[in-house]
Amino acid sequence: MHSINFILASLAINAVHGVRLLGRVDPRTRELSWPGTGISFIFTGSSATIDVDRISGSNSVELTVDGVASVMANVNGTPISTPPGLGNGTHHVVLRKRSEALFGSIFLGNVTTDGTFEKDGEVSRRIEFVGDSITVGYGLDGVNPCTNNASVENNPKTFGALAASALQADYSMIAWSGIGVSRNYPSTSPDPSPVMPVRWTRYNPNDADDSYPFPEASIPDVVVINLGTNDFAYVGVREPLNVQTYISAMVAFVRDMEKRYPAATFFLMTSPSIGDEYPPGDGTKTAQRKALRSVMEALNGTKTDFVDWPTQGSDVGCDYHPNAATHAIGASILSSAIAGKMGW
Ligand SMILES: *[C@@H]1O[C@H](CO)[C@@H](O)[C@H](O)[C@H]1NC(C)=O
Ligand SMILES: *[C@@H]1O[C@H](CO)[C@@H](O)[C@H](O)[C@H]1NC(C)=O
Ligand SMILES: *[C@@H]1O[C@H](CO)[C@@H](O)[C@H](O)[C@H]1NC(C)=O
Ligand SMILES: *[C@@H]1O[C@H](CO)[C@@H](O)[C@H](O)[C@H]1NC(C)=O
Repeated sequence: MHSINFILASLAINAVHGVRLLGRVDPRTRELSWPGTGISFIFTGSSATIDVDRISGSNSVELTVDGVASVMANVNGTPISTPPGLGNGTHHVVLRKRSEALFGSIFLGNVTTDGTFEKDGEVSRRIEFVGDSITVGYGLDGVNPCTNNASVENNPKTFGALAASALQADYSMIAWSGIGVSRNYPSTSPDPSPVMPVRWTRYNPNDADDSYPFPEASIPDVVVINLGTNDFAYVGVREPLNVQTYISAMVAFVRDMEKRYPAATFFLMTSPSIGDEYPPGDGTKTAQRKALRSVMEALNGTKTDFVDWPTQGSDVGCDYHPNAATHAIGASILSSAIAGKMGW
């Protein structure tokens, strides 16, 4: 056993070709805030360690080494290491946040290995997912009734992460539970937090408005928007949604995004948590479908497509959120739609 003079190769995450940041991560702070943010790297050796500078709140992550995933349900700030017994060889490591920003953040330090770093593969396809708790993976690992927390959120099992993986695309998740495009979740004391067209302009979701610089290297080819579940919700708390307000907000948001992503194709998805049966007589699923079709007509000129995710069944995660099976259905429908339209 080498116990002294054991030289570790060390890489500062913000200074390297070797370690890739995944999702919308500020390289100056290496803060993993949005769900699904993380790092990817390849090394030749037998172990690697990701230092954690500090954490805030509660966070869960998934560490995948050579395709084998393990879950850390509660990141406590100690370094995150590859499992023992890997053997000297070339290994691919991916760390991804499972939980969302409102629970906490992880500030990464350097990555070290007993071997050497290799160049991580470049990925040529990029997808940005923009959505609410469904895109987050809120309560995905729970069985209703249950209370959501960072350890039962599971972003890597969401429709977005699964579709991106099927399409061999890099992805970024701009997602926040309770958010809408025109109004947020209906709470008895109105939710004053920003709607998605505002939060989308931020590097981390709690940073200042317009803090994200939209770096050239992160411009997506495809944007998938799944927003409306919170806009449509109202029962017992507020007036039903004015659908025209929703349509106008969605059109304006896509036009904003187009300014940053002029070559992107926009996929507008319906929500599996919206059904025609509830609230009785409203036909909300049909209303959302029609609204998204109207958005596409209004966006004449913009490349858009419509993706219909059927209403989920009675097996659900915490607070009636889609579970892993529902996400897998959404992923399959979405990846076929993207593959068809993009020729991927
Ligand atoms: C991280 O790595 C950089 C360069 O490799 C080094 O200068 C810095 O001191 C390292 N930071 C820590 C906390 O080890
Ligand atoms: C690990 O493998 C590499 C490449 O085969 C070799 O250069 C290196 O010396 C090996 N390291 C150890 C500790 O055996
Ligand atoms: C997180 O939520 C799940 C489901 O409600 C529960 O079983 C678990 O104990 C909770 N974990 C913590 C740390 O609260
Ligand atoms: C866009 O508008 C033009 C003129 O109004 C119309 O001919 C065309 O079919 C529209 N395209 C789409 C995709 O709606």
